[in-house]
Amino acid sequence: MRKNIIAGNWKMNTTLPEGLALAKGLNEALKGKTLKCDVVIGVPFTHLASIAAAIDTDRIGVAAQNCANNGKGAFTGEVSAAMVASAGATYVIIGHSERRSYYHENDEILKEKVNLALANGLTPIFCIGEALEEREAGKHFEVVDLQVEGALFDLSAGDFGKLVIAYEPVWAIGTGKTATAEQAQEIHAHIRSTLANKYGQTAADNCPILYGGSMNAENAKALVAKPDVDGGLIGGASLSVEKFLPIVEAF
Ligand code: 13P
Repeated sequence: MRKNIIAGNWKMNTTLPEGLALAKGLNEALKGKTLKCDVVIGVPFTHLASIAAAIDTDRIGVAAQNCANNGKGAFTGEVSAAMVASAGATYVIIGHSERRSYYHENDEILKEKVNLALANGLTPIFCIGEALEEREAGKHFEVVDLQVEGALFDLSAGDFGKLVIAYEPVWAIGTGKTATAEQAQEIHAHIRSTLANKYGQTAADNCPILYGGSMNAENAKALVAKPDVDGGLIGGASLSVEKFLPIVEAF
């Protein structure tokens, strides 16, 4: 059966000392606990190596928040999938709506990133989700289908089997406005059926689909209780152990 995953996305927050303290605090808080989900933290590039060395990475997976769409070479300022893997990351968040909108990442670029992540042994956490106008126009199913098809449907069945998908409606990110558990379930089930049409029911059933967007200690239980919601990608509430831990324990 598919994994349950609670993943933090710290975004561009914390200095290195602050990030190390947060990661070590979480590591301490999880010690001795029996968890019903995998725990991942998505940290800034600059923090990857130090955090991976400071925590029990069998308990907490470390994710980069992005990687380059080229393997190596003259791309000043870029950080490759091989680099983040060599720094101790085992996951990489790809296609976050902030990267799609602020850095103009399109399906072609995201496809390259997913391929490079997989080639370097990283698990992509591939983000999809509609904007408010798209939801209001009733286009949310169509939007997520196009995002999935555009970047993922050239993958082999073997590579598809290594992916994690995160559904993050843009209108719920950082707004305090969460999708209801029913809205999340409805679209997660839809995404899974789209995946099943392409890769078969078993492969779709094995793919974790996380929800992201203002998920917190209060709403996490109802969300993860839904059959097609396999965990969460948490922004703001992943920046403190007190707020993140109850989400990890929501399963
Ligand atoms: P918030 O939890 O802050 O809404 O962010 C969600 C998100 O974008 C995670 O990737």
